[in-house]
Order: sequence, then structure tokens, then C-alpha cells
Amino acid sequence: MTSKSIAAIVVAAGRGERAAAGGVLPKQYRPVAGIPVLVRAIRALLEVPSVGWVLPVIHPEHAPFYESLQLDDARLLPPVAGGAERQESVRAGLEALSPRRPDLVLIHDAARPFVEVSVIAGVLAALETADGALPAIAVTDTIKRSLDGRAVTATEDRHTLFAAQTPQGFRFPQILAAHLRAARLPRQFTDDAAIAEWAGLSVVLTPGSSSNIKITHPGDFDRMAARTKGDGMETRVGTGFDVHAFAEGSSVWLGGIEISHTKRLAGHSDADVGLHALADAIYGALAEGDIGRHFPPSDPQWKGAASAQFLQHAAGLVAERGGRIVNLDLTLICEAPKIAGHATAMREAIAAICGIAAARVSVKATTSERLGFTGREEGIAAMASATIEVPRSD
Ligand code: CTP
Ligand code: MG
Repeated sequence: MTSKSIAAIVVAAGRGERAAAGGVLPKQYRPVAGIPVLVRAIRALLEVPSVGWVLPVIHPEHAPFYESLQLDDARLLPPVAGGAERQESVRAGLEALSPRRPDLVLIHDAARPFVEVSVIAGVLAALETADGALPAIAVTDTIKRSLDGRAVTATEDRHTLFAAQTPQGFRFPQILAAHLRAARLPRQFTDDAAIAEWAGLSVVLTPGSSSNIKITHPGDFDRMAARTKGDGMETRVGTGFDVHAFAEGSSVWLGGIEISHTKRLAGHSDADVGLHALADAIYGALAEGDIGRHFPPSDPQWKGAASAQFLQHAAGLVAERGGRIVNLDLTLICEAPKIAGHATAMREAIAAICGIAAARVSVKATTSERLGFTGREEGIAAMASATIEVPRSD
């Protein structure tokens, strides 16, 4: 085994759309506890001494993100461009490796940054006898079959079912040939083992790991942060306060939704006082100034702007630092409109903007007992707090 030359491909050319909510960076470039997902995935493969080359496959538009990772290792090859589908990205990687003629190749998803050396070693060991090997874990939930997502047509025998992970390992010439043939079919295979099976190669399962999850949805970042919990993370709290005056109009933007009202809120942007207070709370927790610093009111491009982009920017800064939003709490102070009937929709809108679960967002309201400017219905005030977790910076 050790005499065989081994290359590894890390496919990172996806857009990460399902995990994108609120984030400014594609998932593979987002840090978890300070270390970007792709860096973790590449390092995991470099940790195996018998791996001679690691080849990243990236989206051409992500080249600046890749450069900013500043990776440097004698065994790390310059990245190559992927394709529109995962299968095309893998093929691009295989073709780029072919002049080096490795004996074996490991194909790994960048979105699985927590793969352990033992999992990789298990795959390589199985290639002593099999043409292909993949880590997998036994399915523990009972699996139902349904054609429409509602009516159950069958219950599968879960004892015969396994969830596939990566890296998947193959004999290089065989998988390259299989991929080249598969490229002529209209169908796309969802993993490389499926292409090997289709090509008639022998494929075996090796032990996978429950840590080796694929980041797919925004919530997966929370789970990953929990997995690395305590690893240099700290909790920080910020507060925000904002006021906007009423003007003539027929609806207000509040808490990320539009509510019909006898007035509108005046301001340079859409004047969503709730989102402004929330954005300031997050900027406060990060010690990153306030909304006016990031989106100057003197700049005409923010005239009439949807405040969702301000909050999304603040949430994106948390993600960029490798942190996460633990919870947001917003209080709106006004006599009218009445908020109670809209609070659920506001929570959901705020959660969607920030890419977090609605259970982490609170929206409540109070009047000021007809006292002061809010009592006289001259405007609306909002106060907010944000609790975040970020890698310790000192
Ligand atoms: N991938 C790739 N090229 C593509 C599509 C996906 O290299 N055209 C990679 C992804 O970067 C990821 C892995 O294949 O590491 C698994 O794909 P998936 O989890 O679906 O990631 P994305 O396609 O980026 O995410 P989404 O489907 O949510 O957009
Ligand atoms: Mg995808």
C-alpha cells in the first residue's frame, strides 16, 4: 500500500446555495471556529502521510477567496476550475491529475471538513482488494418511500441501507475511464462510487464517522460550531437603538415586513427601525461601529434601500469571523401599528435574513403609555440586543 502513489481531489466548486442564507462567503470559504471549511478539508487529507498530492477544484469566480486562504504546502497543487455539476468538477480534477499517473485517488467533498485520519485510512486499506471504497454509516432512522412526500408507499429494510460519505477511493485509471464514459450520459451521478458501480467496478463500504457531516444548510454551521465548542470561542453581547419619525404614507416597513398603516416611516432607506436596531446590536457585539459607518446616509446608493441588506451585512460579518448568532431580541416601542399579530412573520423574516432559526429571534412590542414622542405617535423607537459567539481575538 505505502508503495502506491496516492492523490486526493477536494471538490469545492459548488455555489453552496442551500447554506448561503445571510452569509457573504460561499460555505466552503466560511470559517468554523476561525478556520475556513476548505482549509480544514485540505488539511485533513494532508494529515495522511501517504497522500502525495492534494488537488483543490474550485469555482473560477471563487479564485480571490481561494487566494485569501494563503495555503502553502509542497504536496498541495494549484487549484483547477470545476464545472456546473459536481460530477464535472470531479472529472476536471481527474483529468488534471492524469499526467501524474497516481495509482490511487481519493475524492473528497470540501463540505466535509471534519473527516478523521482513521476514516481516510480505512478507505485506503480497503483499496488493497476492492476497486472502490467509501466510508458510510448505517442508517438509524427507519426509511419511508413516498412519491409525493406525503403518501407512504413502502418502508425500506434499513438494515441494508447506509449513508455515503467521502473521501471515496478508487484505482486512478479505472475511475478516470469510468468518469469519461459517464460524461457522455445525460444523467448526473451524485457520487463517484455510483459511477464506479455503474462501470461494473467492485465497491465496498468502510467505516464512516458521525463527525464527518456534510455542511449543507445554515444550521449545519451551528452544529459544527458546537462540535468545536469551547475551542477559543467567546460570547459577546451588543445593543442597538433607533428612532424614525412618521410621515405621510400608507404602510411601514418594520421587522423585515411591510405592514399597512395610516403613515409611513421617514428615512433615507426604507426606515425599518427594527432592522436598524438589530444591525446595530450585531455591529455592537462585534465592536464594528454602527450602521452609519457601513452604509453612510450621505451615500445616495442607500436611498430607499431595503434594510434587509444592512442586517444581512452585519450577520455576514459574524459568519466571516467564524462566529454565529446565538440570539436576537427586538423590542418595538409604538402605540400603532399593533405588533402582536405581525410578530411571528417578523421573526421569520429576521431569521431568514440572518440565516438562523426563528427560535433564535424574539420580537416584542410595548407602548410608552401615550407619553413622549412614541406616545404622541410621532414615530417609532426600537431597541435590540444580539448575542453572538466568535473566536476569541486576544
Ligand atoms: N461541488 C463542486 N462542483 C459543483 C457542485 C458541487 O465541486 N458544480 C462540490 C461542492 O463544493 C461540495 C461538494 O461538491 O464540496 C458537495 O456538493 P454540495 O454539498 O451540494 O455543495 P454545493 O453544490 O456547493 O451546495 P448547494 O447544492 O447547496 O448549492
Ligand atoms: Mg450541490
